[in-house]
Amino acid sequence: MQKVAIIGAGRVGETTAQILAIQEICREVVLIDIREDVPQGVALDIFQTAPFFGSDTRVTGSNDPAAMQGADIIVVTAGVPRKPGMSRSDVLQTNLDVIDGIVADIVKYAPAAIVIMVTNPVDVLTYRVWQLTGWRRERVLGQAGVLDASRMAAFIAMETGFSIRDITTFVLGGHGDAMVPVSRFCTVNGIPVSQFIEPGRLGEIEQRTRGGGAEILALRKNSSAYDAPGASVAAMIDAISHHRNRLLPCVAILEGEYGETDIAMGVPCVLSHQGLQRVIDLGLNEAEVKMFKESAAGVRADIALMPAPG
Ligand code: 2OP
Repeated sequence: MQKVAIIGAGRVGETTAQILAIQEICREVVLIDIREDVPQGVALDIFQTAPFFGSDTRVTGSNDPAAMQGADIIVVTAGVPRKPGMSRSDVLQTNLDVIDGIVADIVKYAPAAIVIMVTNPVDVLTYRVWQLTGWRRERVLGQAGVLDASRMAAFIAMETGFSIRDITTFVLGGHGDAMVPVSRFCTVNGIPVSQFIEPGRLGEIEQRTRGGGAEILALRKNSSAYDAPGASVAAMIDAISHHRNRLLPCVAILEGEYGETDIAMGVPCVLSHQGLQRVIDLGLNEAEVKMFKESAAGVRADIALMPAPG
Protein backbone atom coordinates (compact mmCIF):
# COMPACT_ATOMS: atom_id res chain seq x y z
CA MET A 1 0.00 0.00 0.00
CA GLN A 2 1.39 3.31 -1.03
CA LYS A 3 -1.27 5.97 -1.01
CA VAL A 4 -4.15 6.86 1.30
CA ALA A 5 -6.59 9.65 0.43
CA ILE A 6 -8.54 11.20 3.31
CA ILE A 7 -11.63 13.12 2.27
CA GLY A 8 -12.39 15.72 4.88
CA ALA A 9 -9.52 17.57 6.56
CA GLY A 10 -11.39 18.10 9.82
CA ARG A 11 -10.17 16.81 13.13
CA VAL A 12 -10.68 13.09 12.49
CA GLY A 13 -9.05 13.40 9.05
CA GLU A 14 -6.14 15.33 10.49
CA THR A 15 -5.57 12.92 13.38
CA THR A 16 -5.71 9.94 11.04
CA ALA A 17 -3.16 11.55 8.71
CA GLN A 18 -0.87 12.37 11.61
CA ILE A 19 -0.87 8.80 12.90
CA LEU A 20 -0.38 7.34 9.41
CA ALA A 21 2.63 9.62 9.02
CA ILE A 22 4.15 9.04 12.46
CA GLN A 23 3.88 5.29 12.07
CA GLU A 24 4.80 5.36 8.35
CA ILE A 25 1.81 3.17 7.65
CA CYS A 26 1.83 4.26 3.99
CA ARG A 27 4.10 6.22 1.69
CA GLU A 28 1.73 9.03 0.77
CA VAL A 29 -1.29 10.69 2.40
CA VAL A 30 -3.41 13.25 0.59
CA LEU A 31 -6.02 15.24 2.50
CA ILE A 32 -8.86 16.49 0.31
CA ASP A 33 -11.36 19.11 1.44
CA ILE A 34 -13.59 21.61 -0.33
CA ARG A 35 -12.55 24.41 2.05
CA GLU A 36 -10.04 26.58 0.22
CA ASP A 37 -6.46 26.29 1.56
CA VAL A 38 -7.50 24.24 4.60
CA PRO A 39 -6.24 20.79 3.53
CA GLN A 40 -3.01 22.35 2.29
CA GLY A 41 -2.51 24.02 5.68
CA VAL A 42 -3.31 20.87 7.63
CA ALA A 43 -0.98 18.78 5.46
CA LEU A 44 1.88 21.27 5.76
CA ASP A 45 1.53 21.36 9.53
CA ILE A 46 1.59 17.56 9.74
CA PHE A 47 4.51 17.19 7.34
CA GLN A 48 6.52 19.66 9.39
CA THR A 49 6.37 17.17 12.28
CA ALA A 50 8.14 14.57 10.10
CA PRO A 51 11.66 15.51 11.28
CA PHE A 52 10.69 14.67 14.87
CA PHE A 53 9.53 11.21 13.92
CA GLY A 54 11.91 10.51 11.04
CA SER A 55 8.93 9.88 8.83
CA ASP A 56 9.18 9.69 5.05
CA THR A 57 5.42 9.58 4.58
CA ARG A 58 4.59 12.52 2.31
CA VAL A 59 1.49 14.43 3.42
CA THR A 60 -0.17 16.84 0.98
CA GLY A 61 -3.49 18.67 0.76
CA SER A 62 -5.77 19.50 -2.14
CA ASN A 63 -9.18 20.98 -2.98
CA ASP A 64 -9.32 18.87 -6.14
CA PRO A 65 -11.02 15.47 -5.87
CA ALA A 66 -8.77 14.27 -8.70
CA ALA A 67 -5.98 14.19 -6.09
CA MET A 68 -7.40 10.85 -4.90
CA GLN A 69 -6.22 9.22 -8.14
CA GLY A 70 -4.03 6.21 -7.48
CA ALA A 71 -5.14 5.87 -3.84
CA ASP A 72 -5.24 2.33 -2.50
CA ILE A 73 -7.48 3.34 0.40
CA ILE A 74 -9.96 6.21 0.62
CA VAL A 75 -11.08 7.35 4.06
CA VAL A 76 -14.27 9.42 4.13
CA THR A 77 -14.59 11.73 7.13
CA ALA A 78 -16.36 14.64 5.40
CA GLY A 79 -19.72 15.87 6.64
CA VAL A 80 -21.12 17.54 9.72
CA PRO A 81 -20.56 16.08 13.18
CA ARG A 82 -23.45 15.94 15.62
CA LYS A 83 -23.90 18.64 18.24
CA PRO A 84 -24.57 17.94 21.94
CA GLY A 85 -28.02 16.42 22.34
CA MET A 86 -28.16 15.06 18.78
CA SER A 87 -28.02 11.40 17.84
CA ARG A 88 -25.81 10.19 15.02
CA SER A 89 -28.96 9.59 12.97
CA ASP A 90 -29.86 13.29 13.24
CA VAL A 91 -27.10 14.19 10.79
CA LEU A 92 -28.14 11.61 8.19
CA GLN A 93 -29.95 13.86 5.72
CA THR A 94 -27.22 16.53 5.72
CA ASN A 95 -24.41 14.05 5.34
CA LEU A 96 -26.19 12.00 2.70
CA ASP A 97 -25.85 14.76 0.11
CA VAL A 98 -22.18 15.17 0.95
CA ILE A 99 -21.52 11.44 0.69
CA ASP A 100 -23.42 10.97 -2.57
CA GLY A 101 -21.19 13.61 -4.19
CA ILE A 102 -18.03 12.06 -2.78
CA VAL A 103 -18.98 8.60 -4.00
CA ALA A 104 -19.33 9.97 -7.53
CA ASP A 105 -15.76 11.30 -7.26
CA ILE A 106 -14.46 8.02 -5.85
CA VAL A 107 -15.99 6.00 -8.68
CA LYS A 108 -14.48 8.42 -11.19
CA TYR A 109 -11.00 8.85 -9.78
CA ALA A 110 -10.26 5.79 -7.63
CA PRO A 111 -12.35 2.91 -8.97
CA ALA A 112 -10.04 0.25 -7.56
CA ALA A 113 -9.71 1.64 -4.03
CA ILE A 114 -10.88 0.25 -0.70
CA VAL A 115 -13.22 2.70 1.05
CA ILE A 116 -13.34 3.18 4.82
CA MET A 117 -16.38 5.23 5.80
CA VAL A 118 -16.17 7.29 8.99
CA THR A 119 -18.87 9.94 8.56
CA ASN A 120 -21.96 9.37 10.72
CA PRO A 121 -24.32 7.66 10.82
CA VAL A 122 -21.53 5.34 9.77
CA ASP A 123 -23.46 2.09 9.34
CA VAL A 124 -26.05 3.71 7.09
CA LEU A 125 -23.50 5.65 5.06
CA THR A 126 -21.29 2.59 4.61
CA TYR A 127 -24.36 0.89 3.17
CA ARG A 128 -24.88 3.93 0.93
CA VAL A 129 -21.35 3.70 -0.46
CA TRP A 130 -21.86 0.01 -1.21
CA GLN A 131 -25.25 0.70 -2.79
CA LEU A 132 -24.00 3.55 -4.98
CA THR A 133 -20.72 1.99 -6.07
CA GLY A 134 -22.08 -1.49 -6.70
CA TRP A 135 -18.69 -2.78 -5.51
CA ARG A 136 -18.10 -6.09 -3.79
CA ARG A 137 -18.36 -5.78 -0.03
CA GLU A 138 -14.66 -6.56 0.38
CA ARG A 139 -13.88 -2.99 -0.65
CA VAL A 140 -16.48 -1.12 1.40
CA LEU A 141 -15.94 -0.91 5.16
CA GLY A 142 -16.83 1.43 7.99
CA GLN A 143 -15.02 2.40 11.15
CA ALA A 144 -16.88 2.15 14.41
CA GLY A 145 -16.27 -1.07 16.34
CA VAL A 146 -12.53 -0.48 16.66
CA LEU A 147 -13.34 2.83 18.35
CA ASP A 148 -16.14 1.46 20.53
CA ALA A 149 -13.95 -1.48 21.59
CA SER A 150 -11.07 0.87 22.40
CA ARG A 151 -13.38 2.90 24.59
CA MET A 152 -14.52 -0.22 26.43
CA ALA A 153 -10.89 -1.36 26.82
CA ALA A 154 -10.00 2.02 28.31
CA PHE A 155 -12.87 1.78 30.80
CA ILE A 156 -11.83 -1.76 31.80
CA ALA A 157 -8.21 -0.65 32.26
CA MET A 158 -9.40 2.26 34.42
CA GLU A 159 -11.58 -0.08 36.47
CA THR A 160 -9.15 -2.95 36.98
CA GLY A 161 -5.77 -1.24 36.80
CA PHE A 162 -4.51 -3.88 34.34
CA SER A 163 -2.31 -2.90 31.41
CA ILE A 164 -4.28 -1.81 28.38
CA ARG A 165 -2.03 -4.19 26.40
CA ASP A 166 -3.68 -7.19 27.99
CA ILE A 167 -7.26 -6.11 27.48
CA THR A 168 -9.28 -7.36 24.51
CA THR A 169 -12.82 -6.13 23.94
CA PHE A 170 -15.51 -6.61 21.32
CA VAL A 171 -18.33 -4.23 20.49
CA LEU A 172 -20.70 -5.16 17.68
CA GLY A 173 -23.92 -3.85 16.11
CA GLY A 174 -24.71 -0.36 14.92
CA HIS A 175 -22.60 2.60 16.05
CA GLY A 176 -25.39 4.11 18.13
CA ASP A 177 -27.03 3.87 21.52
CA ALA A 178 -28.04 0.27 20.74
CA MET A 179 -24.50 -0.96 20.02
CA VAL A 180 -23.70 -4.37 21.48
CA PRO A 181 -20.67 -4.64 23.81
CA VAL A 182 -20.11 -8.39 24.09
CA SER A 183 -18.51 -8.71 27.50
CA ARG A 184 -18.47 -12.49 27.18
CA PHE A 185 -15.65 -12.08 24.66
CA CYS A 186 -13.78 -9.42 26.63
CA THR A 187 -10.66 -10.70 28.36
CA VAL A 188 -7.60 -9.71 30.33
CA ASN A 189 -4.89 -11.73 28.62
CA GLY A 190 -7.36 -14.50 27.83
CA ILE A 191 -9.07 -14.48 31.25
CA PRO A 192 -12.75 -13.48 31.02
CA VAL A 193 -13.19 -9.95 32.29
CA SER A 194 -16.10 -11.20 34.44
CA GLN A 195 -13.48 -12.66 36.80
CA PHE A 196 -12.36 -9.15 37.65
CA ILE A 197 -15.50 -7.02 37.43
CA GLU A 198 -18.83 -7.98 38.98
CA PRO A 199 -21.87 -8.12 36.66
CA GLY A 200 -23.54 -4.90 37.83
CA ARG A 201 -20.37 -2.87 37.37
CA LEU A 202 -19.69 -4.52 34.01
CA GLY A 203 -23.18 -3.50 32.93
CA GLU A 204 -22.32 0.10 33.82
CA ILE A 205 -19.15 -0.11 31.75
CA GLU A 206 -21.14 -1.48 28.80
CA GLN A 207 -23.54 1.44 29.14
CA ARG A 208 -20.72 3.96 29.36
CA THR A 209 -19.29 2.42 26.19
CA ARG A 210 -22.60 2.90 24.37
CA GLY A 211 -22.53 6.55 25.37
CA GLY A 212 -18.78 6.94 24.84
CA GLY A 213 -19.05 9.35 21.93
CA ALA A 214 -21.77 11.43 23.59
CA GLU A 215 -19.73 11.64 26.81
CA ILE A 216 -16.81 13.20 24.96
CA LEU A 217 -19.07 15.50 22.97
CA ALA A 218 -20.68 16.73 26.20
CA LEU A 219 -17.29 17.31 27.82
CA ARG A 220 -15.58 18.95 24.84
CA LYS A 221 -18.73 20.92 24.03
CA ASN A 222 -17.55 22.26 20.66
CA SER A 223 -16.24 19.06 19.16
CA SER A 224 -17.01 15.39 19.01
CA ALA A 225 -14.19 12.92 19.63
CA TYR A 226 -11.33 12.76 17.15
CA ASP A 227 -8.20 11.34 18.80
CA ALA A 228 -9.52 7.82 19.34
CA PRO A 229 -11.57 7.87 16.09
CA GLY A 230 -8.44 8.86 14.12
CA ALA A 231 -6.36 6.16 15.84
CA SER A 232 -9.08 3.61 15.06
CA VAL A 233 -9.06 4.43 11.35
CA ALA A 234 -5.27 4.24 11.31
CA ALA A 235 -5.44 0.79 12.93
CA MET A 236 -7.74 -0.44 10.16
CA ILE A 237 -5.46 1.00 7.47
CA ASP A 238 -2.44 -0.60 9.11
CA ALA A 239 -4.21 -3.99 9.10
CA ILE A 240 -5.05 -3.64 5.41
CA SER A 241 -1.80 -2.13 4.19
CA HIS A 242 0.33 -4.70 6.01
CA HIS A 243 -1.94 -7.60 5.09
CA ARG A 244 -2.10 -8.52 8.77
CA ASN A 245 -5.30 -10.59 8.79
CA ARG A 246 -6.29 -8.75 11.96
CA LEU A 247 -9.61 -9.64 13.53
CA LEU A 248 -11.28 -6.29 14.25
CA PRO A 249 -14.86 -5.20 14.75
CA CYS A 250 -15.75 -3.13 11.66
CA VAL A 251 -18.84 -2.06 9.78
CA ALA A 252 -19.38 -4.51 6.93
CA ILE A 253 -22.14 -5.40 4.52
CA LEU A 254 -23.78 -8.55 5.81
CA GLU A 255 -24.58 -11.42 3.49
CA GLY A 256 -26.42 -13.72 5.85
CA GLU A 257 -24.04 -13.51 8.80
CA TYR A 258 -25.82 -12.98 12.11
CA GLY A 259 -29.05 -13.71 10.20
CA GLU A 260 -28.88 -10.37 8.37
CA THR A 261 -28.62 -9.37 4.73
CA ASP A 262 -28.77 -6.08 2.84
CA ILE A 263 -27.50 -4.06 5.80
CA ALA A 264 -24.18 -2.68 7.07
CA MET A 265 -23.33 -3.21 10.73
CA GLY A 266 -20.47 -3.78 13.12
CA VAL A 267 -19.26 -7.40 13.12
CA PRO A 268 -15.91 -9.13 13.68
CA CYS A 269 -13.99 -8.78 10.41
CA VAL A 270 -10.69 -10.15 9.17
CA LEU A 271 -8.84 -7.33 7.42
CA SER A 272 -6.17 -8.11 4.84
CA HIS A 273 -4.73 -6.40 1.77
CA GLN A 274 -7.97 -6.92 -0.16
CA GLY A 275 -9.99 -5.19 2.58
CA LEU A 276 -12.60 -7.44 4.17
CA GLN A 277 -11.36 -10.99 3.92
CA ARG A 278 -14.22 -12.55 5.89
CA VAL A 279 -16.76 -12.00 8.63
CA ILE A 280 -16.46 -14.17 11.75
CA ASP A 281 -19.62 -15.49 13.35
CA LEU A 282 -19.17 -15.40 17.12
CA GLY A 283 -22.12 -17.63 17.93
CA LEU A 284 -24.02 -15.10 20.00
CA ASN A 285 -26.25 -16.28 22.84
CA GLU A 286 -29.95 -15.49 23.04
CA ALA A 287 -29.56 -12.21 24.92
CA GLU A 288 -26.79 -11.02 22.58
CA VAL A 289 -28.82 -11.96 19.50
CA LYS A 290 -31.73 -9.94 20.86
CA MET A 291 -29.52 -6.87 21.31
CA PHE A 292 -27.98 -7.34 17.87
CA LYS A 293 -31.42 -7.58 16.25
CA GLU A 294 -32.58 -4.43 18.04
CA SER A 295 -29.51 -2.60 16.84
CA ALA A 296 -30.10 -3.90 13.28
CA ALA A 297 -33.67 -2.62 13.39
CA GLY A 298 -32.39 0.89 14.16
CA VAL A 299 -29.91 0.81 11.28
CA ARG A 300 -32.56 -0.59 8.93
CA ALA A 301 -34.96 2.20 9.88
CA ASP A 302 -32.34 4.79 8.93
CA ILE A 303 -31.52 2.97 5.68
CA ALA A 304 -35.21 3.17 4.80
CA LEU A 305 -35.08 6.97 5.16
CA MET A 306 -32.59 7.29 2.30
CA PRO A 307 -33.90 8.15 -1.14
CA ALA A 308 -33.23 5.59 -3.86
CA PRO A 309 -29.90 6.15 -5.60
CA GLY A 310 -29.86 8.22 -8.79
C1 2OP B 1 -17.86 8.97 18.21
O1 2OP B 1 -18.39 7.96 18.64
C2 2OP B 1 -18.05 10.76 16.52
O2 2OP B 1 -19.27 8.73 16.31
C3 2OP B 1 -18.11 9.32 16.77
O3 2OP B 1 -17.12 9.69 18.87
